[in-house]
Amino acid sequence: MSQMQKRVAVLVSGGGTNLQALIDAQHMGIIHSGSIEIVISNKADAYALERAQRADIETAVIEKKPGGQAEFEEKLMALLQEKQIDLIVLAGFMSILSENFVKHYEERIINVHPSLIPSFCGKGYYGLKVHEEALKKGVKVTGATVHFVNEIPDGGKIIFQKAVQVLDKDTPETLQKRVMKQAEWKILPRAVEKVCKDMMMAGGKV
Ligand code: GAR
Repeated sequence: MSQMQKRVAVLVSGGGTNLQALIDAQHMGIIHSGSIEIVISNKADAYALERAQRADIETAVIEKKPGGQAEFEEKLMALLQEKQIDLIVLAGFMSILSENFVKHYEERIINVHPSLIPSFCGKGYYGLKVHEEALKKGVKVTGATVHFVNEIPDGGKIIFQKAVQVLDKDTPETLQKRVMKQAEWKILPRAVEKVCKDMMMAGGKV
């Protein structure tokens, strides 16, 4: 990695298809202002960890149990500082970070959410549940959003959004897949590049 590149940590909990999109984008040069230095999971069995290992990226597991939220965040912060991380990317990270943590990394944490915020977002809206609710409501257009993380769940400044059509025959699973493919996997890498580039222009570290 070059001296100028921003150091990125990706936080995951599950399958890691968004992480894969970031790894692929890095290989293709779509992401060139930043470099993924570490992938951190709060679940020991997350498949995302295998994706990272396959790409020769360092991994770590920090679980919430038995210590609880405060101890979890303490360990996480210590690792992020040790790795001199500039940007934290939540890519399917299914745990809410405390106000204290988020404030420490103001405008340095981004998240991908599988809806067009402010629809179907906030506490309790994650993963498949978001698509179940969108179908229940009967919306004809949904999508994905990448945003900065602040103390309000899914409430931070929006970086990119992309709309996706809902089809009559959609199930939560088919809709989730289309939103990932057409929106999330495209806008998350673009957002990471944009934020890293903006940070490079602005200079300075966390
Ligand atoms: C993605 O659809 C992501 O947007 C969503 O979980 C999925 C994770 O998939 N995240 C949230 O709902 C966060 N509120 P992945 O592990 O394959 O990237």
